[in-house]
Amino acid sequence: MKIGGLALDGPAVLAPLAGIGNLPFRLLCRRFGAALVSSEMMSCHGLVRGQGQTLRMLATDPAERPVSFQLFGADPAVMAEASVLLAESGADVVDLNFGCPVPKVVRHRGGAALLKEPDLLEAVVAACVKQCPCPVTVKIRSGWDERQINALEIARRVEAAGAAALTIHARTRSQKFEGRAEWHVITDVVRSVRIPVIGNGDVFSGPDARAMLEQTGCAGVMIGRGALGRPWIFRSIRHFLTTGEELSEPTLPERVEVIREHYQGLKNLKGERTGRLEMRKHTAWYIKNLPGAAAIRRRVNSCESEEAYLSLLAELASGSLS
Ligand SMILES: Cc1cc2nc3c(=O)[nH]c(=O)nc-3n(C[C@H](O)[C@H](O)[C@H](O)COP(=O)(O)O)c2cc1C
Repeated sequence: MKIGGLALDGPAVLAPLAGIGNLPFRLLCRRFGAALVSSEMMSCHGLVRGQGQTLRMLATDPAERPVSFQLFGADPAVMAEASVLLAESGADVVDLNFGCPVPKVVRHRGGAALLKEPDLLEAVVAACVKQCPCPVTVKIRSGWDERQINALEIARRVEAAGAAALTIHARTRSQKFEGRAEWHVITDVVRSVRIPVIGNGDVFSGPDARAMLEQTGCAGVMIGRGALGRPWIFRSIRHFLTTGEELSEPTLPERVEVIREHYQGLKNLKGERTGRLEMRKHTAWYIKNLPGAAAIRRRVNSCESEEAYLSLLAELASGSLS
């Protein structure tokens, strides 16, 4: 798949994940074979005003490249200015979020709200494409709700405005994450534009990835929830797509090694305490299907120091916890 002049080395990419997709997680996903990793969404206003919380999301590292930084907002001039800042901060791709369903975002016409304002959406894309020195991509949902499914119209407008690729999460805004993603909408979009289309929604394995690629004709697949506590899903997908065989899940010690690396990365980025607290949710995902996961999770949540957390991980790796 090519995004503008950028050639990706595979079809499976990491979804933007707010609260999760920071540098340490992206580095893990890239090392396990994600062809492109994405930042959490960032507010265009936060960026241009230089707000600390948003600027901290700009942390990047050559080892994660190619990396996409994602923006949300509805003001064409501010979005364009912010897209330039992202490119200057090391983004290989700038992605525009027109899919976020969260009330806090749509209330200010951000995220999926712009699906209801196609003229403004197109103006935002055109303004960013005009000013941003790197390729600009767009991420949408199928539509606002079941009565307003307008992915085809939006896709054509996005292409006309000069976007280099389009990701479609095949659910409406009102579906949030419920039900099955409606992949036929991806098929329709693929048939109606020439830019690469990345399909998104409910890919949790190599067979899912192959099914989406074959059923919809999309150029790439984006993985969100399937990567939570399983950054190695990108290795599994690559392996399945090339051999037709499913890799077994990593052993417990391998998994714990990944948890340790994730924790070290978060500690370097955010400090020991915040890193350890953020690892609570990640650790719960990493151990989800293990016997005794609920008890392990409770012990993780009660770790009050780095020593306690690391010794718990050592116990976990030795198999004496499960
Ligand atoms: C915790 C969480 C955070 C998310 N944050 C973002 C975000 O910042 N930007 C965005 O475009 N989508 C975001 N999404 C949506 C995902 O990128 C993706 O479209 C969705 O999860 C469907 O893909 P999946 O079935 O592979 O999970 C988020 C989803 C989850 C579960």
